[in-house]
Amino acid sequence: MRLSFTLNGGSVETDVAPGATLMELLRGLGAVSVKDGCARGDCGSCAVLLDGRAVTACLLFAGQVEGLRITTAEGLADEVGLHPLQQALLEAGGVQCGFCTPGILMAAADLLEREPEPTEAQVRVGLAGNLCRCTGYVKIVEAVQDAAAMMASATPVAEGEEVGHG
Ligand code: FES
Ligand code: FES
Repeated sequence: MRLSFTLNGGSVETDVAPGATLMELLRGLGAVSVKDGCARGDCGSCAVLLDGRAVTACLLFAGQVEGLRITTAEGLADEVGLHPLQQALLEAGGVQCGFCTPGILMAAADLLEREPEPTEAQVRVGLAGNLCRCTGYVKIVEAVQDAAAMMASATPVAEGEEVGHG
């Protein structure tokens, strides 16, 4: 079947086998940050943003994304630099392995879009679907809150608002 959608800001038109999952489609297109950790919705390693909301790509059929907008970890950084979540994870020591990190990034990006100043508990709930098999979550949780602070301080000053020069 023929499929059109947006992937990391670019238009994609491709053929896909009926029954292929979104995870299989994206990895086949080179978005290998989408990891196959369990293929049954348990681990969050395949998380991507679908129209801005984190979903597990292993549980969706590729055909379900016709006309929609997908962001993977490959699409988080821009020409200016890393996304604050990527920067914060690096600085906090929260990048633990390449398997869980991309999915954690996408779940955290969704969380910060909905909740720009999450508490520790909110971060833990937001990342509850992303499993790490080997270390822990302390640095990851710290990093998400650090990223929230970075993003808040980078928010442009509203028109008419005073800007301090001290
Ligand atoms: S591979 Fe999709 S949730 Fe584990
Ligand atoms: S699964 Fe990635 S650090 Fe544990």
